[in-house]
Amino acid sequence: MGVNILGIGSYVPPLTVDNDMMSTIVDTNDEWITTRTGIKTRHMVNGESTWYIGAQAAKAAVLNAGIDVKDIGLIIDSTITLEFHTPSAACLIQREIGAENAACFDIGAACSGFVYGFDTAMRYLMTDDSLKYVLLVANEALSRITNFEDRSSCVLFGDGAAAVVLEKSDKLFTSWLGADGNGAKFLYCRSGKADHPFMTEDRENVHDGMDDSITHEYIFQDGKEVYKFATKALPTAALNAAKKIDMDIGDVDVFVPHQANVRIIETAAKNLGVSLDKFVLTLDRFGNTSSASIPLAFDDAVRTGRIKRGDKVCFVGFGAGLTLGSVIFEY
Ligand code: UT7
Repeated sequence: MGVNILGIGSYVPPLTVDNDMMSTIVDTNDEWITTRTGIKTRHMVNGESTWYIGAQAAKAAVLNAGIDVKDIGLIIDSTITLEFHTPSAACLIQREIGAENAACFDIGAACSGFVYGFDTAMRYLMTDDSLKYVLLVANEALSRITNFEDRSSCVLFGDGAAAVVLEKSDKLFTSWLGADGNGAKFLYCRSGKADHPFMTEDRENVHDGMDDSITHEYIFQDGKEVYKFATKALPTAALNAAKKIDMDIGDVDVFVPHQANVRIIETAAKNLGVSLDKFVLTLDRFGNTSSASIPLAFDDAVRTGRIKRGDKVCFVGFGAGLTLGSVIFEY
């Protein structure tokens, strides 16, 4: 039992911010950003909401799949940057595209969210014969939660969205997901206030393990710790997925990794014993768009002919949580 990607679409907001523009707001420069990360430009929303850019990608994917939107039975959305705690982004996208017969929920696995969503979609398709199509969307407006005074993180992130229409198939498919909550303190973003009018002085304060001095609702990361985790996570996840079906990782034609830092991807390729030529890299143009980065890179690779039908493709990601995961499938 596998999954076929019937259609794909993406959307990036038109506003482009290059490294020179970043150097006008923090003490940085194009040379540092390029050599340390591989990023040259990123897109940022200019008032557009996160659900809206997701809906644009979803419309493109549905059009590309050539299906009736009413045949979508489930919408799964991955985002950490929605402007609402509720409703879900999936519900807002359903409303926007008119997918009135779809159940809707969001998935929270940060930058690994698209891989987690892909695995979840496969399990729904496998267990529900009445389900024809799943729409999986990843949409992120990281500029909403970026600290633009922190040069070590603000230069990394970008905004964008991509979506796929999935259906059942007999083609090759394997997946593996993992997490390490002990690493939660290395990458997080606080949300909302916790107080209410009936709080008492003798309340129990359970420490969350994060840095108490960081109270704002911005992404905090310990770059070095995340870097160390990432270089191990990418090979671990890909190898674990391959191992489940006794597949040689060398038989993967194209890897589409989470686009966080070109040096992380280079090290991961080396650790896997695979040529870097097999890795799709789009972070020079889009930066790190969290869970949207894998499908954005995939869409780009399909549109430019880098990935063709029949190719064995490996999606592999890591992110806050800490989370990691991989799916390997025939496109
Ligand atoms: O989706 C997952 C999210 N996050 C990641 O994947 C991040 C993983 N980590 C990384 O990619 C890297 O750790 C960074 C790109 C964040 C940082 O690169 P690094 O090579 O680990 O740099 P560093 O933190 O060791 O900093 C080296 C120097 C420092 O200066 P000093 O102390 O040596 O004088 C920093 O203050 O570079 C400085 N620096 C900068 N300089 C110019 C940090 N950020 C900048 C900047 N421009 N934007």
